[in-house]
Amino acid sequence: MSENIYKPDLMEILEITQHTADVKSVRIRFIDEQQQKNVSFNVGQFGMFSVFGCGESVFNICSSSNWKNYLEFCFRKTGRLTEAMWETAVGDTIGFRGPYGNSYPMASWEGKDLVFVAGGIAMPPIRCAIWYALENREKYGKITIVYGARTVGDLVFRDDLSKWQEYPNVDVLQTVDPGGETPQWTGKIGFVPNVLKEARFNAQNAAALVVGPPVMIKFSLPVLAEAGLADENIYTSLENRMKCGIGKCGRCNCGPVYVCKEGPVFTLKALKSLPEDY
Ligand SMILES: Cc1cc2nc3c(=O)[nH]c(=O)nc-3n(C[C@H](O)[C@H](O)[C@H](O)COP(=O)(O)OP(=O)(O)OC[C@H]3O[C@@H](n4cnc5c(N)ncnc54)[C@H](O)[C@@H]3O)c2cc1C
Ligand code: FES
Repeated sequence: MSENIYKPDLMEILEITQHTADVKSVRIRFIDEQQQKNVSFNVGQFGMFSVFGCGESVFNICSSSNWKNYLEFCFRKTGRLTEAMWETAVGDTIGFRGPYGNSYPMASWEGKDLVFVAGGIAMPPIRCAIWYALENREKYGKITIVYGARTVGDLVFRDDLSKWQEYPNVDVLQTVDPGGETPQWTGKIGFVPNVLKEARFNAQNAAALVVGPPVMIKFSLPVLAEAGLADENIYTSLENRMKCGIGKCGRCNCGPVYVCKEGPVFTLKALKSLPEDY
């Protein structure tokens, strides 16, 4: 009998971190030691994570592919699956299918300045690439990270943000929307696209990864274009609704393109060739 491609692997929850009122990240490990030993993925890929009896949902793997002891994902509580995931505890078993999708082209970014632009809960899909680049620091040029959220309380992975700014030739520009600051806030106040205008990088030899709410992406793209970045050097990761994650159900497609198979990572140049409604 052929193997059931929808059957999840069993993972044990090792650690849970609550970042905001509705966002948690979770570290998991295959229960089967051999599977854990053989685990292999590329930054930018996603998985289908399940709570038994409640269903499954898509999340990016937000840990670096260099970390061999666990996988990590981060989710916002929005509905049926994420509410069930919120109630899980260390030691519980959850399901995982994956890794799926394409990945960030970390090899072709070597030698370039990197610009990471994230808004709100979109930090996790970018975090894996930031760690990967920092763990291979000598391969990349200047790294600029622009991260914004509505309020200080909505910023996630704040410990990572502090660590990243300790690395050489790394600029971390954190910002919150006007009114979202606290008296202790030392970062910037303003919307991500405006703060992005302050970023200094060599646009002739740079790649940018932009993930966040559509409005943030919409107003960030012209800033990058004005700085001189070509469409083929601007990347994003799409979050189209998905069901199977493996090109079978047709739920995620944009015209002829299955986002779960050919994406979720696309250049702006590729996106411009897709039907309008992506
Ligand atoms: C490739 C990919 C990567 C993703 N990575 C992450 C991640 O790292 N962290 C994270 O929190 N979420 C991520 N998402 C979104 C996540 O899959 C949905 O929020 C999730 O399905 C919610 O599951 P649920 O059962 O709790 O919500 P549901 O009960 O299914 O839905 C709750 C609400 O969210 C809406 N919704 C569901 N799916 C989506 C979607 N894809 N886009 C917009 N709205 C949606 C529904 O319409 C509904 O209003 C990703 C999605 C994709 C496709
Ligand atoms: S999610 Fe089923 S085809 Fe892409």
